Amino acid sequence: MSRVTQIRTLMALVGGLFSILAFAKPVELDEISRKEVAERIAPVGSVCEQGEECAANAGAVASAASGPRSGEQVYNQFCTACHTSGVLGAPKKGDTATWEAKLSAAGGFNNLLGSAIKGVGSMPPKGTCADCSDEEISHAIEFMSGLKP
Ligand code: HEC
Repeated sequence: MSRVTQIRTLMALVGGLFSILAFAKPVELDEISRKEVAERIAPVGSVCEQGEECAANAGAVASAASGPRSGEQVYNQFCTACHTSGVLGAPKKGDTATWEAKLSAAGGFNNLLGSAIKGVGSMPPKGTCADCSDEEISHAIEFMSGLKP
């Protein structure tokens, strides 16, 4: 083999290798990324088998099935922590005078509801009931204040 032929053979080999790599690499990546994308876009609920306890959607299913929780239920689970003893200056349950004053300061029930939803002063948004609907928050305010919307 002449030197020129040797170099040509070598170049052909290297070229061939590159083209194999060029085709092999993207295919490999495609498969990985397709799997990753499928996993990432899979709905969270799909992990739960029918008839199985599933922590992720148990709450959502329960509230969808039974309708809005009562003011008492929401209060006892979330609001009582502050509104029973009045910690951090929270208006106490059943303290009608304070609630009446709050009502006129806010300028109506809807404004009280609005600040309870957004949070006000040391009170966290929705009084820590993150999955409460506006209606459920409204019920809880009625329950603890005796005020009507
Ligand atoms: C971590 C303590 C805490 C929890 C839990 C909490 N609150 Fe409060 N809440 C407060 C405090 C403190 C205030 C007084 C805020 C202020 O006026 O600065 C307040 C005030 C309010 C007010 C009056 C708002 C106003 O504009 O004067 C409403 C209505 C209210 N809370 C509703 C609720 C409801 C409903 C829940 C339960 C879903 C709840 N809170 C849970 C601490 C709490």
